[in-house]
Amino acid sequence: MSNFFPLKVIELENTTKDSVVVSFDVSQDLYETFDYKPGQYLTLRFNVKGEEVRRSYSLCSSPMLEEPLRIGVKRVKDGLVSNHINDQLKVGDTVNVMPPDGRFFVDIAKENYKTYYLFAAGSGITPILSILKSVLYTEEHSFVHMLFGNRNEESIMFKEELKKLQKAYPDRLLLKHTLSRPKSEWSDLWTSKKEKRHRKGRVDAACVKWFINEFPPYAQNAEYYICGPGTMIENTKKALQENDVPDNRIFTESFGTATTDDGSKGFDNARLVASLDGEIVKATIPEGKTLLRTLIEAGKEPPYSCEGGVCATCICKLKKGKVHMKNNLALDDKEVSQGYILSCQSVPLTPEVEIAYE
Ligand SMILES: Cc1cc2nc3c(=O)[nH]c(=O)nc-3n(C[C@H](O)[C@H](O)[C@H](O)COP(=O)(O)OP(=O)(O)OC[C@H]3O[C@@H](n4cnc5c(N)ncnc54)[C@H](O)[C@@H]3O)c2cc1C
Ligand code: FES
Repeated sequence: MSNFFPLKVIELENTTKDSVVVSFDVSQDLYETFDYKPGQYLTLRFNVKGEEVRRSYSLCSSPMLEEPLRIGVKRVKDGLVSNHINDQLKVGDTVNVMPPDGRFFVDIAKENYKTYYLFAAGSGITPILSILKSVLYTEEHSFVHMLFGNRNEESIMFKEELKKLQKAYPDRLLLKHTLSRPKSEWSDLWTSKKEKRHRKGRVDAACVKWFINEFPPYAQNAEYYICGPGTMIENTKKALQENDVPDNRIFTESFGTATTDDGSKGFDNARLVASLDGEIVKATIPEGKTLLRTLIEAGKEPPYSCEGGVCATCICKLKKGKVHMKNNLALDDKEVSQGYILSCQSVPLTPEVEIAYE
């Protein structure tokens, strides 16, 4: 079920000193397989230091433009894969890549008349950039109000590309930067018209409230897309809710954080019955092992990507028994009440657990 395809790296470009943009070539026979919606991500598989590892990276290219498939990878301190990509990857290398996936996307339509509020922080710009370009290029009646937070001027990924977009679409794109530790009075910093002062700081609740009040929507049906660190997402969402934005208009994407393991061990030696790729797999779940890891160690290939409870690639339906999810940043309450679980985060709470990958 985890289908990987070898894609060739055709370009590498440093957008800041600690991030790299990787472009892939997709052969014509794979065009359909690698078709995507703005906001979706790829899963990359590497062998680093003898270990097979997978990581998700959002596409920062737009499917509406004739751009190669492109991701932007920012170094994480002591991170295995992000540093491997920044340091080791070369043009001409082949990377194993799973087709695009993810539920954080925009259904672009030429006739749409919307105001899109885009909130990004740090590397969270990647899916937001894809959405931004796609909306501006295709939806000629829609507007974008975007707030982008970074540490300082030098850490802004895609700074030049964003400048070009501002020049190309001055009437439909309103982009404001906020910096938590600016190095100078950078002229592009957001200045509030009403308060006549530079806005510095993080994308936090006060900043978001200020932004949406200062720049109200042009079109009635506004939508709100947020991507950045966990606290930025929570604060932005809360600020929007406090300004009466309905939940069904708020869309979020998390890249994960530090550890997600809450230490729960679950039921020792529970029985697992899994329906996977038309096969019924039976296995014993050792104490502390997740359902996903149990299947991988049984030599099976269940779908997964982040293994952090963030992306939902490992989603399956619980048919029998109970589980505990150590972390869930991907499924909403409705999906959980319908019996969906993240197999990468689930440990058994009953002697038998039955699941089905759909
Ligand atoms: C849906 C999705 C889309 C993503 N898109 C992008 C993208 O477009 N660009 C991008 O650069 N990254 C993106 N990520 C994050 C990426 O998948 C990796 O998690 C990140 O590159 C770190 O991997 P690593 O192997 O370098 O670090 P690891 O070796 O896995 O971890 C090293 C240390 O950093 C901590 N850590 C891991 N991930 C993060 C994180 N995201 N933030 C803070 N601390 C972390 C770990 O807990 C550990 O302490 C995305 C993640 C998801 C789930
Ligand atoms: S693999 Fe990403 S949530 Fe389970």
